[in-house]
Parts: sequence; C-alpha cells; structure tokens
Amino acid sequence: MSEVVVLLRDVWKTYTSSGVTTAVLRNVSMVAYRGEIVGIHGPSGSGKTTLLKIIAGLERPDKGDVIVDGYNLNMLDEYGLAMFRNNVCSYIPQDFAVIDNMTVYENVEIPLLLAGVDPGTRMKKVMEVLDYVGLKDKVYQKVGRLSGGEKQRVAIGRALVTTPSVLLADEPTASLDWSNAIKVAELFLDIKKDFGTTIILVTHDARLLEYVDRSMSLVDGTLKQISSPRL
Ligand SMILES: Nc1ncnc2c1ncn2[C@@H]1O[C@H](COP(=O)(O)OP(=O)(O)O)[C@@H](O)[C@H]1O
Ligand SMILES: [Mg+2]
Repeated sequence: MSEVVVLLRDVWKTYTSSGVTTAVLRNVSMVAYRGEIVGIHGPSGSGKTTLLKIIAGLERPDKGDVIVDGYNLNMLDEYGLAMFRNNVCSYIPQDFAVIDNMTVYENVEIPLLLAGVDPGTRMKKVMEVLDYVGLKDKVYQKVGRLSGGEKQRVAIGRALVTTPSVLLADEPTASLDWSNAIKVAELFLDIKKDFGTTIILVTHDARLLEYVDRSMSLVDGTLKQISSPRL
C-alpha cells in the first residue's frame, strides 16, 4: 500500500497589505505518497511558494491541517519546526540560498552542525553527499565561483545530507539552461529511487513535468489534481 507522507487538509492562507486582505491559498487539500515525485505548476503569483513554505513549516496556515511524515505542524512550536526542517523535510528555495563566501563543503555541512552531529560523522556524510550530487572535485571551492547548475547541486546536497523523508524544491530549474535542468531532474529521479524520498517541486517549466509521477496545478490559490498517481 502507498503510504501518505504529506497531507494537507482545507488549508487557507491570506496576506494583508495596505489594509487589503488577499486569499493566497483557498481550501487546499492534497496528499503525497512515500517515494513519489509530485509536480505543482501554476502561473507566477498563484501561491506555489506559499504552499511549499507551509509544507516546510516556514509559514503557518490561517486554517487547516498540515501533516508531514507523522508530524502535525500545527502542534509544533518554532523550535519544533526548526528541528522538523532539519531532520524531516528539506526546502530548497528558488534562489538556492547557498552562502557564496563559504566552500561547497561548509555549505553542505551546515544542517549537520545544527543537528549537533560529531565531526567524524559530519565529514563522512558531507563527502558521501558531494560524491552523490557530482561535486567531489569542487569540495573546497568557494560557492560564489560556481555555475548556476553547480550551486543548485550544492543546495540539493545540503538538503539531502540529513536524509529527509520529504524534499521540497521551489522552481529548481528556473535559472538553469536546459542541459543543466535535465541533470537536476535526473538527480531528483535518482534521489527518489535511492532513498525513497518524497519530492514535491513547484515549477512553471512544463518540461520538468515529464519527470514527475503526478502533477497538480495551482491557479489563484486553488489546487487541482491533473494526473493520477503512477504508484
Ligand atoms: N509575505 C507576504 N506578504 C504579502 N503578500 C505575499 C507574501 N508572500 C506572498 N504574497 C503574495 O501572495 C501571492 C502568491 O505568492 P507566491 O506564493 O510567491 O506565488 P508563486 O510562487 O506562485 O509566484 C502573490 O500575490 C504575492 O504577492
Ligand atoms: Mg514562487
């Protein structure tokens, strides 16, 4: 049986600016199963980033339940959410959020430092992950000197080093040319196969949807399922 790893039930999110309240997510419900890749596409401003941040515990919904790998995010305080992000659910922001003046190694080590992992285990895990994402020959380079595709792989390595059950990627190919975009898409397929990770990616790049098991569309904050699970 397919195991539900991400469950959203009747999620609402509004933002208020200059006294005007706008509903960004309207009654969104979805599931993602263990080891599947879900693609969510939709036009700019449709609420994709907001949806991912809610699953990552970076934003709280106004209403509704978010349950990820057994954690009900409404029940976690800020410390609990920080632990959740560092152990269960990794979020890769659209701009990668890598630190340019640190090395590839130092960037990928950060989540393990936060988790209090001992130095020997840290080195072993970081080197394994850098080998996996194809950055073994760039270990001690400053990230600021890398290409966009390499920076994206640093961000994926940093997200993967804690072996999360859920990986969220916001427009992972937005700033990449097509050959680098394919490499990133293939890396997600490998991660799913090798680690059984549930991957949710949001994109407005229709080409990336060829790589997903199931796709959904988000239009004006309303989510629609447009293909059935392959599982
Ligand atoms: N922190 C915020 N405060 C106010 N409005 C926001 C905030 N974050 C996003 N929005 C608004 O919510 C809408 C959806 O944004 P977003 O989730 O970033 O969409 P997408 O990622 O699909 O482009 C946009 O209209 C955006 O301006
Ligand atoms: Mg966005």
